[in-house]
Amino acid sequence: MKIIRTKAELRALTETWRRAGETIGVVPTMGALHAGHLSLVEAACSATDRVIVTLFVNPKQFNSPEDLANYPRTEESDGKKLKPYSADVLYVPDGAQMYPDGFATTISVTGVSQGLCGAARPGHFDGVATVVTKLLLQTDADQAFFGEKDYQQLQVVRRLATDLDLKTRIVGCPTIREDDGLAMSSRNLRLGKHARATAPVIREALLRTAEAICGGTPVSNALASARSHLHENGILEIDYLELRGDPDLEILDTADRPARLFVAVWLDGVRLIDNLRVQATTAQDGLLELVG
Ligand code: PAF
Repeated sequence: MKIIRTKAELRALTETWRRAGETIGVVPTMGALHAGHLSLVEAACSATDRVIVTLFVNPKQFNSPEDLANYPRTEESDGKKLKPYSADVLYVPDGAQMYPDGFATTISVTGVSQGLCGAARPGHFDGVATVVTKLLLQTDADQAFFGEKDYQQLQVVRRLATDLDLKTRIVGCPTIREDDGLAMSSRNLRLGKHARATAPVIREALLRTAEAICGGTPVSNALASARSHLHENGILEIDYLELRGDPDLEILDTADRPARLFVAVWLDGVRLIDNLRVQATTAQDGLLELVG
C-alpha cells in the first residue's frame, strides 16, 4: 500500500488506473482505525478494482478546538492495520493540500443535516459535506463507503452526491459493534473503565425502545421510558433520543413508515452516538411487528 500526501501524485495514479479501465473505491476516514473502518475497506476491496483509504482529521467539522486537539492521530498504527487488506493507497493530505490559502467554499446541505447532530454541533455537517465533496473529487471514486453508525452523515453525503451530480455511488455499510453491543468508535478509547462498562446501555435502550414501539407503545412513552432507563443506568446527559423517518430524517411521533431511533449521550466527557432501524408494519392482525 502506497502512502500519498499530495493531490498531484494521487491524480497521476488515478489517471493510470482510469486508462487501464479500472474502477476506484474510496473509504474516507479521520484515522484511529477500528474494525468498523476495516469492514468498509473490506467492502470497498470486494466492490472496486482499486481502493483508496483517506486519512485526514478535518478541522472544519469540529466545533470545539479541544475536541480537535484530543482527536487521536495514529497514522503509523493505521497503516499497520490496513496491511492485511488489499487497499492500494493510504491518502494523507495535510491542511494546506485540503484547504490552501484563500480557500473560501463551503458545501452546505439543508434538510437532513438539521436536528440531531446538526443541532448539537453547529457547522459540523458543513465541514463534513465540504471535505467529503473534495475527497470524492480528488480520488475520482466510483464508489464511496460510509458506516451506518453515522447515519445522519450518510444521508448528508447521499444528498450532496445527488444534488451536485457527482458520479460516485454512496454505499452505506452496517454498524460494527463490540461483543457487548457498543457501536465501534474511535471515541470509545477515551472512556474510563467505569464509563466503558456503562456504555452498552445505549444500545440496550435503543433495542428496548424499538421493541416497545413495535409492540404498540406510543412513541413518546417509549422514548420517555428509554430516557429513564439511561438515567437509572448512569447516563445522565442525553443530547437527543428521537424517532426519525428514514431516509428523510423527519421527526416522527408514530412509527407508521420506515424509521430509525437516534441517540447521542455524554459519558465521561465523551459524546457517543448510535442508531437503530425500526420498521413497524401493520400485520394482518392489526399489531405492529418489528421487521428489522
Ligand atoms: O466519519 C468520519 O470519519 C468523517 O466525518 C469523514 C467522513 C471521514 C469526513 O471527515
